[in-house]
Amino acid sequence: MGTRVTFMPAGKVIDVTRPTTILAAARQAGVAVRTRCGGKAGCLLCKVNVSGDAHAVTAPTPPEVRKMGMEETLGARLACQVRLSGRTGSVTVEVPEDPLKALVRRKLEEQRGEDALW
Ligand code: FES
Repeated sequence: MGTRVTFMPAGKVIDVTRPTTILAAARQAGVAVRTRCGGKAGCLLCKVNVSGDAHAVTAPTPPEVRKMGMEETLGARLACQVRLSGRTGSVTVEVPEDPLKALVRRKLEEQRGEDALW
């Protein structure tokens, strides 16, 4: 069965049977995760929030610990560094909204609110 990964807020679900990074699994599921460094723990743009079964994900890598200053398996992680084990379990990955998309969405909501006044 492998590791069931749910990407939020998209709600996309994928089963991972081989060890792979969350970044690769997200791409496979069609979920956009921001990156700039090519997965080298350099840009910190791929930060996601991981919850669920701790045994289904690897412990932070030394570059991740250096960059993020943390050693917890769950919580804020770098999608390019944390690997899904592929073992039976489930994990939920919260992917933050792209800041540009969030700005456009807020502006559209404001505009809709103003249009409702007329
Ligand atoms: S892709 Fe740049 S830190 Fe993960």
